[in-house]
Amino acid sequence: MIIICPKCSRRHKVNPDAVKPYVQSGKKLFATCKACKYRFPVLTNTLSDLESGAVPTVPEGKTRARKICVTLSKGGVGKTTTSVNLSCGLALTGYRVLLVDTDTQGQSGYMLGKKPGAGLTELLTGELTPEECILEARNNLWLLGGGKSLAGVKRIIDRKSFGAEWALSEALSNLDRQYDFIIMDTAPGWDQLIVNVLFYATEVLVPVALEVMPLHGLSEFLKSLGSIQKYRKEIELKYIVPTFLDTRIKGPQTLYAQLKRLYPDQLCAPVHYSESLAEAPSFGKSIFEFAPGSRASADYRELVRTVSMNDKAFM
Ligand SMILES: Nc1ncnc2c1ncn2[C@@H]1O[C@H](COP(=O)(O)OP(=O)(O)O)[C@@H](O)[C@H]1O
Ligand SMILES: [Mg+2]
Repeated sequence: MIIICPKCSRRHKVNPDAVKPYVQSGKKLFATCKACKYRFPVLTNTLSDLESGAVPTVPEGKTRARKICVTLSKGGVGKTTTSVNLSCGLALTGYRVLLVDTDTQGQSGYMLGKKPGAGLTELLTGELTPEECILEARNNLWLLGGGKSLAGVKRIIDRKSFGAEWALSEALSNLDRQYDFIIMDTAPGWDQLIVNVLFYATEVLVPVALEVMPLHGLSEFLKSLGSIQKYRKEIELKYIVPTFLDTRIKGPQTLYAQLKRLYPDQLCAPVHYSESLAEAPSFGKSIFEFAPGSRASADYRELVRTVSMNDKAFM
């Protein structure tokens, strides 16, 4: 039988005869993962399943992570800034968060001041295990880094003769019980990796820069999302986050009002244009660390509350 570590997802082969006495006696059984040394309870009800080769999972009561991708085909709209600050804010609130960077630019790590040695590439190719690829970036926040090497992975995915759109879901399949949120930052454009992200995530968050032609970019993206939804009903556009709002000029406010009319259910409070948001990445800091008292910090705190549906989050 196989026992999976709920922390690092390593699978361990266990002799069922060694376990049976515990089940029969009704004693609580604990296992220690050989890979990450995490000690966890093995649920006795799952042990009976295991005789048939089924696989146990996580401690009782643990639900699956919400899987949110932050995406829009246009670059420079605040995808990485939003992914990183939303993840940090959720982690500060106490949620366990995995930030997955699916961009070849690998900027999520940079914004957090981290240089992951391995990341999503090695997990997708199966070279390394999740615990070898995932880096603890902050308290409650883990990072699965992106970077240049993902370009090679895209080619591998492209060459798959079938099931290509599920490659990411397969690679991340055991991780979603260990986190409350899995946030995915994506690259601009539209390629096989983004399709993979949209086959894995269940919620979409779209940052829309209130600068130039945001509505055109958004409606183009929504068409592409619609083509995915034909095959994958679970994925839903949940949040539209206006970014770069500059209240000194009229144009962005008109665009904001337009968005409000078109997407009343999805539209979130805006993130204002902020020098601090532009500066924080070069210090490897989130906005909460770099300028906790700033308006940008308040804007992202509000987004954390909206996404977590927790009014008290991170007050
Ligand atoms: N609200 C904002 N105000 C000012 N600068 C911002 C804001 N949001 C992001 N930036 C900066 O704009 C640039 C592009 O943002 P980024 O998050 O990298 O966009 P994307 O990931 O969509 O390409 C970055 O240099 C970032 O620091
Ligand atoms: Mg980016």
